Amino acid sequence: VTEPDLRGRHVVVSAGGTREPLDPVRFLGNRSSGKQGYALARTAAARGARVTLVSANAGLPEPAGVDVVPVGTAVQLREAVLKAASDADAVVMAAAVADFRPATYAAGKIKKKDGEDPEPIVLVRNPDILAEISADRARPGQVIVGFAAETDNVLANGRKKLDRKRCDLLVVNEVGERKTFGSEENEAVVLGADGSETPVPYGPKEALAETVWDLVARRLG
Ligand code: C5P
Repeated sequence: VTEPDLRGRHVVVSAGGTREPLDPVRFLGNRSSGKQGYALARTAAARGARVTLVSANAGLPEPAGVDVVPVGTAVQLREAVLKAASDADAVVMAAAVADFRPATYAAGKIKKKDGEDPEPIVLVRNPDILAEISADRARPGQVIVGFAAETDNVLANGRKKLDRKRCDLLVVNEVGERKTFGSEENEAVVLGADGSETPVPYGPKEALAETVWDLVARRLG
């Protein structure tokens, strides 16, 4: 039996991966499936929360009892998260947000021209949404959780990222062959701004989601 320990709370979860368009048919994207974010949304709803799920290109069935806000790009995801976060008790940024987007968008499909080299793709930075909402909290006591996929020095890099982004919790997972992207399982360590480290053994994404909500609920008191 699930404890309704998030009853009366509003939580915002971002999920999936942003797509940054180059022209009407092409984009820069990433391998995020959205499964971890959807597991977070489902488990929060089961624990009694009102859930806003800002979903970027996940293509997964809408979880019952969850408000889904579909978005495409990082800029759209930022708008939707800022709006939903204004009255949220917790925000969990599980989405893979593109750090960069193409500087220009071609209104017509980019064509190859005989004998000519392709134009380079120039990128500009996207806003860092996690850093922004953490630095300027919409409410006192709002709990903010980030995710980080690292390939090496996982804990040390995770700790640096948590300090830089100023979030309360950072879920760090090692990116590997069968882990994380598209898989049903995950393995992670949840780092706390209070110095805590909570290891979550290899298992279903639901189990990691429950641990995240345990840690969030404790901080909400
Ligand atoms: O810096 P990095 O992309 O590794 O950070 C990952 C965390 O930051 C994730 O929680 C992701 O949702 C968030 N993020 C963001 N805005 C960006 C890039 C990442 O909110 N532009």
